[in-house]
This record gives sequence, structure tokens and C-alpha cells, in this order.
Amino acid sequence: MIDMESRVMSSLRLVGAFVILVSLFQTGSAQASCSKIYSGQTFTECRPLNTFGATLAWTLHEVNHTIDFAFNEDAGSLAGWVGWGINPTGGLMPGTQALVAFWDANRTNVIVREYDLTVDVAYRPETPLFPANNLSVLYTDTRVEAAGTVVTILSTLHLTPNQSVTLNHVWNRGFRVVLATLSPGGHHLTSENRASRVKINMVTGGFTSVSDGERVKNAHGIINVISWGMLMPIGVMIARYLRPLPKADPLWFHLHRACQTSAYVLGVVGFGLGLKLQTYAPVLLYSKHRNIGVVIFVLATLQVLALVLRPHKDTKPWRRYWNIYHHTIGYTTILLIVINNITGIDILDPGKRFRIAYIAFVAFLVAVAAILEAISWRRWWIMRKKLKIEVPSSI
Ligand SMILES: *[C@@H]1O[C@H](CO)[C@@H](O)[C@H](O)[C@H]1NC(C)=O
Ligand SMILES: *[C@@H]1O[C@H](CO)[C@@H](O)[C@H](O)[C@H]1NC(C)=O
Ligand SMILES: *[C@@H]1O[C@H](CO)[C@@H](O)[C@H](O)[C@H]1NC(C)=O
Ligand SMILES: *[C@@H]1O[C@H](CO)[C@@H](O)[C@H](O)[C@H]1NC(C)=O
Repeated sequence: MIDMESRVMSSLRLVGAFVILVSLFQTGSAQASCSKIYSGQTFTECRPLNTFGATLAWTLHEVNHTIDFAFNEDAGSLAGWVGWGINPTGGLMPGTQALVAFWDANRTNVIVREYDLTVDVAYRPETPLFPANNLSVLYTDTRVEAAGTVVTILSTLHLTPNQSVTLNHVWNRGFRVVLATLSPGGHHLTSENRASRVKINMVTGGFTSVSDGERVKNAHGIINVISWGMLMPIGVMIARYLRPLPKADPLWFHLHRACQTSAYVLGVVGFGLGLKLQTYAPVLLYSKHRNIGVVIFVLATLQVLALVLRPHKDTKPWRRYWNIYHHTIGYTTILLIVINNITGIDILDPGKRFRIAYIAFVAFLVAVAAILEAISWRRWWIMRKKLKIEVPSSI
């Protein structure tokens, strides 16, 4: 029991370490400079934002509950667009009341319009985005300037009397606009595009550069790849290839059980974070990933229970049936885990090298398994031959 407890504790410490690692990684960036002067107007505050070299300058007027803003970002090309807005309903893109700027057909004048980024616009790329005139946020005196491909959107936001001064800012940039309908196209979905949001306390300037959702997402990814994706297959290999060795007899079992229970404990934390992630997305986008995850969780839980409920070695034929059951569920679970981890990495999109690294890890395990498999078969073959020779002689 103490053994189990200390194992749980060390698993939890491991989780803590990862969360810290992830947050260090997240807050280390964005120390670029920012300007407080735009278009001849001087602002009292400014912040470099965490993506695309964007910056935000502002002045809060407590007397009339207004905030003057200057948002600055490089569109990358004269055919693209730059957008920024306040989301009064949450930290993500859906619900953002946006100001989007782009060039006219002659690429000489920059235009800015208001847009309501609904759930449909956010999650159904085929939904066209048209200018809106009934935003839930009041912007006045909106104007735009450009120098090369760098755009500055200036505006005044009118806070409602009891609105919090901590505001969710969401911005992005895209690469095409349908000028006939003033309809900006979608943007890429790189991790930079998805990290383009920040919650800023407009009074103190304090900010959280990555939303809780993003932190949970990263922790979910890292923990699940390590627990389900790495520890569990290693635990399976320990059982399969150590067990036949006569000297490794109770050892393989203890290693297998230790590996699988700590992977399971850690994995349950990762699974819980995955469920928590659903509360950040208004539309469940990744239902397939979620469903496979639930199946894996159920199967793995059955495996842990099976460990407790296993019949004694000598109770034939039950032990044989139990073995077949335990192995079938085990291999199925591992297969599902590999599939779901790869789709999960694709969803998180932390960069190609992570996908390649995980696939390389799996390939390495498969190669090691193939070699060990060959060795085991050979040993089995030799044993059989020996037995065949020995059996008649013993009669
Ligand atoms: C709000 O008050 C400030 C400071 O008095 C002033 O400069 C600004 O023009 C006012 N804004 C609006 C929209 O009335
Ligand atoms: C683009 O330039 C042409 C010729 O200079 C002009 O006739 C046209 O009105 C301009 N279009 C816009 C949208 O400014
Ligand atoms: C603006 O009006 C459109 C059409 O009536 C509606 O679908 C949309 O929800 C409204 N947006 C806001 C922010 O009220
Ligand atoms: C103040 O906030 C409450 C909810 O917190 C909301 O129902 C109400 O409409 C707000 N009042 C104004 C004037 O915005």
C-alpha cells in the first residue's frame, strides 16, 4: 500500500513538473518592444503581444469609461488582412467583436470594418464573414493606417458601466480577402495563429499571455504522450519479453505492474485534462479523438481491474481464459493509444518534429519488439526440440 502511495505521489510530482515546464515555456516569449505613439496620438500603456510581432497601445479614461486603442500588426502581404477585437464572452475566437483591416483592389487604401466572429465563422471555414453593424461592443472613431504591410487599427472602446477592465483580446492575420463582399478569408491554423489571444487587465497592464485552455491543452498532450503513449507500450513489452526468462520470474510481473499502474495514474490525469478541455470549446470539434480517448480509458481501467481480479496461476482453465482476455484487450488498447496520440499531436500541432519524434519512438519499439519476438520464437523452438528429444528418453 505504501508502495502504491509513493508511486502515486511520484506520479503527481511528475505531473507538477510538467505543468511548470509548460508554463515556463509559455511565458518565456514576447519580450519585444512596443511603441506608445501612433498616428500622432500618445497612449499611456503598451504591450507587445505574443504572436506575429503584434503590439497593443492604449489609454484608459476612467471618467467616461472609454479605452483608446492602437493595435499594430504586420499583415505579411498587401493581399492579406489584419484583425483584432475584444471578446466579451470568452478567451477564444468565437464571440470576438472584431475590427478587420485590408487593402482595396488598388492596394493603396486600407479599409477597416467591424465583424462579429460567431461560432459558425470560427468552426465552419465555409461560412463567409460579412461586415456587421450590430456588434455587442461599441467601437467609435475607428480608423486605420498602413506603412508597407504593417497595419495600425485605432479605435475607442466604450465599456458598459459594470464591464470588467480585464478584457480578452483576440487577433490574427489572413492571406486573402473577397473585396466584392468585404469578406476576409480564414487564417492558417498554426500554433501561432491559435495562440493569438491574451487577457489584459487594462488598468494594471497585467496579462496572461496564454489562456488556461492553452495550458490545459499542452499539459494534456505532454502527459498523455508520456503515460499512455510511452510508458504503457514499454510496460507491455516488459511483460511479453521478460516473462519467458526463467530468472526474471517475479521481477517481470512487478515491473509490468509498476509501469502500467503509474502510466495509468498519470494517464487518468491526462484524460481528466482532456475532458476539461471540452469546456473551452463551444462546439466539440474533436469528437473522434475524444471518443477513442474514452474507449482507451475504459479498456485501460478494465486492464487494471483485471490485474486485481486475475485467477490464481493454477486455477485452470480460468487462468488461460483470463490471459487471452488480458492480452487481447491490452494489444487493442495499445493500438488505439498509438492512433489517438498521433491524431492528438495533429490537433495540437506543436510542430512536425513532435509528430516525427513520436512516430520514430513507436517505430523504435516495433523494431525492438520484432527482434525480441524473433529471439523468443527461436528460444521456444529450441526448447520444443529439446523436449521432443527428452520426452521419449524419460519414458
Ligand atoms: C473620454 O475622456 C477623455 C479624457 O477626458 C477624453 O480625452 C476623451 O475624448 C473622452 N472620450 C469620449 C469618447 O468621450
Ligand atoms: C483603382 O485605380 C483606378 C485607376 O487608377 C481607379 O479608376 C479606381 O477607381 C481605383 N479603385 C479603387 C477601389 O480605388
Ligand atoms: C447581428 O445581427 C445578425 C443578424 O440579425 C445576428 O445574426 C447577429 O447575432 C447579431 N450580432 C450581435 C452581436 O448581436
Ligand atoms: C451588468 O451586469 C449584469 C450581469 O453581471 C448584466 O445583467 C447587466 O445587464 C449589466 N448592466 C449593464 C448596464 O451592462
